[in-house]
Amino acid sequence: MKPRILVTESIPEPGMKLLYDAGEVTLLPEVPDAAALKTLCASGDFDVLLARLGDTVDADLLAVAKVRGVSNYAVGFNNIDVAAATEHGILVGNTPGVLTDATADVAMLLMLGTARRVVEGDNFVRSGQFAGWNPELLIGADVSGQVLGLAGFGRIGRATARRALAFGMDVVFSPRPPAERLVTEEELGEFAGKAAQLPWEEVVTRADFLSIHVPLNNETRHLVDASVLAAMKPSAFLVNTSRGPVVDETALVAALRDGVIAGAGLDVYENEPELARGLAELPNTVLLPHIGSATDPVRGKMAVLAARNAIAIGKGEMPEFAVNPEAFRGAN
Ligand code: DGY
Repeated sequence: MKPRILVTESIPEPGMKLLYDAGEVTLLPEVPDAAALKTLCASGDFDVLLARLGDTVDADLLAVAKVRGVSNYAVGFNNIDVAAATEHGILVGNTPGVLTDATADVAMLLMLGTARRVVEGDNFVRSGQFAGWNPELLIGADVSGQVLGLAGFGRIGRATARRALAFGMDVVFSPRPPAERLVTEEELGEFAGKAAQLPWEEVVTRADFLSIHVPLNNETRHLVDASVLAAMKPSAFLVNTSRGPVVDETALVAALRDGVIAGAGLDVYENEPELARGLAELPNTVLLPHIGSATDPVRGKMAVLAARNAIAIGKGEMPEFAVNPEAFRGAN
C-alpha cells in the first residue's frame, strides 16, 4: 500500500514529484491553522505529515496524532516538540547538510551589508539623492582584519568561519553557548591554528561581528539578551541567521537605538513574521525575510530530502535523516 502523506504546503517540484510517485498525497489547498492540523493528524487518514517551519507540531497535537512521523521541510525543528514525538513513537525527519553553504553565504552577506551600509546606500541611489562621489558619503566599517565571534561551531558556523577567513577576518568561537565544551584539535580539523575557541563571554567582548549559529532550545532562548548586548563593543554588529528567539529582539532594538552596538543583520525574528516594535525604522539594520536557504538548487535538495524522509516514514522504514531515531518502531 502506498503511504498516505499529508502536505501542508507545496514544496519544490523535485520533492512533490517523489511524493506523488511513491505516495497517496493530500496537498491542502490552504495552510491549516493549529486546530485544523491537529484534527487532520488525529484522523487516522495519514501515515506521515510533511510539515513546514510554520506548522506547530506541539505536545497537544502529538498526543492525539495517528501518524508514524513528521518530515520537516527544514534542517531546524523547533516547530516540533521532539520529546513529545519520541514519547509517542513518532519519528521526526529533517534536511541537514544541503543548506549549509547557502546559509553561511547569507551570514557573510549580512556582515558585509551591515558594515558597508548596503540598504542605506541602495535607498540613497533609488531615491535620487546620489549626486556623485563624495569623500564623506556613507562611511562604513571594515570586515577584513576584524574579529568574527561565532556562537556555535556546527556545520553552518564552520562554513561561515571558512568564508570569514577568506575575507581576512580573525575567527573566535564558542561551540555550544551558554554551556562550555572543549573542542579537540581533531574536531577543529581544517580550523586548527586558524580559529580560536574562547569562553562565550570572551567571544562576546572580542567580536566585531557576533554571528549566531546555535539551534533554538530552552538553553539558547534569549542567549543574546540586554546584558550580552551591553558587553559587546559599541562598534560591533550582530548577525542572526539561526532562529529569532535566540536574540531578545526588544532588547536588540533598544541597543541599536541607543548605540550600545553599531548594527544588526537579521534573517530571522523572535516572533516571525512580526518584527519587534521599532526594528523596521532603524537605519543600522539589514533585515531579510528568512531566506538563508532560499536558492533554487538548495530548496530543491531540501525538498528531495524531506520527500524521501516522508516516504520512508510512511512505509514504516527508518528515514535517511531522523532527529529522534529512538522513536522508530518499525512498520506497525
Ligand atoms: C531551516 O531549514 O531550518 C531554515 O531555517 C529554513 O530553510
